[in-house]
Amino acid sequence: MAATRGQPATPAGVSIRPASADDLPGLIEIYNHYVQHTPVTFDLEPVAFTERKAWLAQFGDTGPYRLFVAERDGALLGYAGSHPFRAKRAYETTVETTIYCAPDATGQGIGTMLYAALFEALAGEDLRLAVAAITLPNPASVALHERFGFSLTGVMHEVGRKFGRYWDVAWYEKRLGSTDQDSRRKGGYSSRIKSR
Ligand SMILES: CC(C)(COP(=O)(O)OP(=O)(O)OC[C@H]1O[C@@H](n2cnc3c(N)ncnc32)[C@H](O)[C@@H]1OP(=O)(O)O)[C@@H](O)C(=O)NCCC(=O)NCCS
Repeated sequence: MAATRGQPATPAGVSIRPASADDLPGLIEIYNHYVQHTPVTFDLEPVAFTERKAWLAQFGDTGPYRLFVAERDGALLGYAGSHPFRAKRAYETTVETTIYCAPDATGQGIGTMLYAALFEALAGEDLRLAVAAITLPNPASVALHERFGFSLTGVMHEVGRKFGRYWDVAWYEKRLGSTDQDSRRKGGYSSRIKSR
């Protein structure tokens, strides 16, 4: 069942919940499929258990860094999460998002369910921006991000090399939360100039 614009699919029997340590083998299996067979991630070697355990530890049950999984009948179908964008402190109001469905679980509305849960969880956090990097071409990922209000920031051309060729990466961004700067901007530049 494919998702159609304006009418997200709701795949039967799929539930979304926060990830736990027990999900690690399933998370690794999904991710390593894309490492080995696609350019959607720029890892070149499959990730090992210890390395991915450290990755999993960055997510919490509260706060800006979350990880949700989709499952049906105990089988892991996908995951979506938010993690730090860059280490320098001023970036702490920005998260980078990540999302992967199992190869036989794409195009069924599961990515939509995962991102819905993730952005609902992030709604109360002190965050200003979510960013996502998409290796091109990836029409499913572009459609998903646009559905969730991401817009194209720009394209980095031939920024990565994998499988013996260079790949372009599109950066997308989505405004989160609302601050004083938003209410000032609502009046437009002219009203801000007048109010000085
Ligand atoms: C990208 C991904 C997470 C999207 O999740 P999904 O469950 O397949 O997507 P959904 O079924 O929820 O559909 C979301 C949107 O993508 C569209 N879509 C899904 N598969 C598509 C495809 N093969 N081609 C074009 N559009 C597609 C849907 O029509 C829907 O669009 P809409 O919201 O405008 O109606 C999933 O396909 C995936 O894991 N792909 C492989 C890994 C990957 O690319 N991860 C992202 C890295 S940036």
